[in-house]
Amino acid sequence: MAGPADSVIRGFGGRGNLPPLRLRRHTGPLDSYESSVADMLRMVDQLGLVERGDRVLDIGCGPGSMVEGLLERIDREGSYVGFDVHRPSIEWCQRRYRADPRCRFEVARLASPYATARGGPAVESYSFPIDDGECGFVLAKSVFTHLEPGEARRYLTEIRRALRPGRAAIVTTFLFEPGSRTATGHSQVFRRADAAGRLRRRSRLAPQAAVAYEKSYFYELVEQAGLRVQWLSAGFFPGESDRLTGQDVLLLGH
Ligand SMILES: C[S@@+](CC[C@H](N)C(=O)[O-])C[C@H]1O[C@@H](n2cnc3c(N)ncnc32)[C@H](O)[C@@H]1O
Repeated sequence: MAGPADSVIRGFGGRGNLPPLRLRRHTGPLDSYESSVADMLRMVDQLGLVERGDRVLDIGCGPGSMVEGLLERIDREGSYVGFDVHRPSIEWCQRRYRADPRCRFEVARLASPYATARGGPAVESYSFPIDDGECGFVLAKSVFTHLEPGEARRYLTEIRRALRPGRAAIVTTFLFEPGSRTATGHSQVFRRADAAGRLRRRSRLAPQAAVAYEKSYFYELVEQAGLRVQWLSAGFFPGESDRLTGQDVLLLGH
């Protein structure tokens, strides 16, 4: 659907707050853009993860699919911080939410295939734009599915630093079990293995397009960061699917 047609449909459909098509496409399949938000908010509510006065952090927020839902769950004392390597998405969010003093959006200028500019510091060196222990809730929705192990290690360490003790973070991933179709290369989705077989990729040409981790490997990274997996809601795990059926949702705390 062309950009102008999409904006008319967004307007008439009462969905004028949706980002334009080219930015929604940057986040993945269009047909699940809104339903994945609703699913995530349901989980946030069921687990009681956001309190009214919280500062919430949205890692890799893209064009802000979660912003409205999270703002509805905080009051005037609360605040929202989102960052992403994709400058056009962040600029759109900055324009869209400029009237709301609770919101802050930052471009992470990093060497990432998802950034519009090439070069910049390594993702492994990035510090989240947050003070220690400032966040009541941290979200990384569909971001670890694009991170290399060193990057994932760094972001988990940063989540640990940002998160107030006793509070929780949600990260989504693709996890697989040894011996599963994904682990043995029999699945249609993650065919490329790393040397140790603990990580698999969807594409050789775009290695970070979709990354799956052996569950125990990802849990090791979580523990090394000083975090604990409190709960796993399986979406892709154990890795028997031939399609990218949902993601695994991990609840982390310390
Ligand atoms: C699949 S999209 C998800 C966007 C958003 N979280 C959502 O669920 O709608 C992945 C996002 O992660 C961003 N991203 C990729 N690598 C990143 C990194 N190292 N740091 C921050 N954002 C990153 C991409 O630019 C993209 O916006």
